[in-house]
This record gives sequence, structure tokens and C-alpha cells, in this order.
Amino acid sequence: MDGPVDETREVLRAARAWLAELSEEGVTSYERMPAAPATAAPAPLDPPVANPPRDETLAFEGAPRPTLEAVRESLGDCDRCPLHQTRNQIVFGDGNPDADLMFVGEGPGENEDLQGLPFVGKAGELLTKMIEAGLDLPRSEVYICNIVKCRPPGNRDPHADEVATCRRFLDGQIRAVQPKVIVALGKPASSLLLGRNVAITRERGTWHEYQGTPVMPTFHPAYVLRQYTADNRRLVWEDLKAALAKSREA
Ligand code: URA
Repeated sequence: MDGPVDETREVLRAARAWLAELSEEGVTSYERMPAAPATAAPAPLDPPVANPPRDETLAFEGAPRPTLEAVRESLGDCDRCPLHQTRNQIVFGDGNPDADLMFVGEGPGENEDLQGLPFVGKAGELLTKMIEAGLDLPRSEVYICNIVKCRPPGNRDPHADEVATCRRFLDGQIRAVQPKVIVALGKPASSLLLGRNVAITRERGTWHEYQGTPVMPTFHPAYVLRQYTADNRRLVWEDLKAALAKSREA
């Protein structure tokens, strides 16, 4: 094989990975941006943090192992970020407070916002099936929550300031449940827990850690529904099996 052919293959491989990444994020089309006027100021790299986390003491943060009830109580009728203006209700979390396996998604969708429970819509049905039929565990045996507890309007990705504001409560949930393994569902949850921008198509199925707890990033069930291929189903199935096996190690 000669150099240019290898190079072309590499470019195609990178382009395919990038398209898969966009697809995982729900991008199905794009509009060409109008050319910027020559004098336009460069766009800032990060959106400004409109709502910096409140400087407040949260009672549960003083406890070595808070209860989920204490974390929920500190969250209260939260108005710390703009998501409270459009939500119907807070979707805190669901499942076994002593679970070995914890699933962390992105944020409630429409059904979750109406029912007050995480992963109860179409993506939730698939997640439940993967847990119950795939892992042979009742859903009630694991703990499921999201990086933000209120539905982002129109199911947009949560903004950085919303994620930052809600993070103390996710941390509280992790410290309360003390799972043996966290499964991060999709790019936003994986990026938050790994502390960097995660390319989920490359990094799913690999082990990481969050504050000492093993983390397995995998595809979000909504992505698997959109790209319902045998390959994607098999990859998630392998990730979940690896997560379960690790959670059962002595
Ligand atoms: N998608 C998520 O990330 N979380 C939910 O609770 C539902 C859909």
C-alpha cells in the first residue's frame, strides 16, 4: 500500500468518526453559515457562565455519606438556573439507593418532565429493556439520574452553566448511593464525569474514573434508537455487560 492511499483511508476514517459523533449528538443536517463580515469580532470559545453556581452551603455536603433524601431536600424547589422557568417538575432520580450500578443521562425529556421520573419515554423504554432483558436485573435494582434535573426546553443540550449549577446534586447522589460502577449515557454525561470533551464513538467501552468510582461511557439510548443498527446495540450491550461484571468484582 502506498502513502497517498493510506492517507486517503485515514481521512475517510476520521470523517466517518466525525459524522458518527455529530449523529450521536443528534445533528441530522446543517446550514451553511453566512460569511462573517470582515470586521466581526471572534466568537468566544466558551459560552459565558450566565448563572454562576450560588455561593451557598448545602447541608448534605458536610456528611461523609449523605442520604438521597438529604440531597433531595437541599435541592428543594430549585430555582438556581434558568431551567426552573420552563420545567413542569424536578426529575431527581429513581431506583435503589444502595445500587451497585448507577446510570447517568443528560437531562429529562418531555415524558420525564411530566412524570417526574428519569428515562420513562422512548429512550427510557430502551434503557429499561437493556437493563432488564439485557442484564437480567430489575430496573429497580439500579439507580438512574441525569446531569441536570430539569428538562431543557425543546430537549436542547443543557448549557454549561446549568450543568455546573446542578453538579453538586449529582455529586451528592453519587456520594449517597456509592455505586461500584457508573455508566455514563452519551457525550454530555461522559464529558462531565471525565472532565473533558469526550468523543463518545471513540471512548465508549473504555474504563475511566470519577472521584474513585469506575466510569464506563456508552452510547445514549436515544442515539441507539436513532441509529438502530445491530452493531450499535451490540456495542452498548457489551459495555453494559462489562459494567455489570465490574460491579460484581470483589
Ligand atoms: N434522556 C436523558 O438523558 N434522560 C432522561 O431522563 C430521559 C431521556
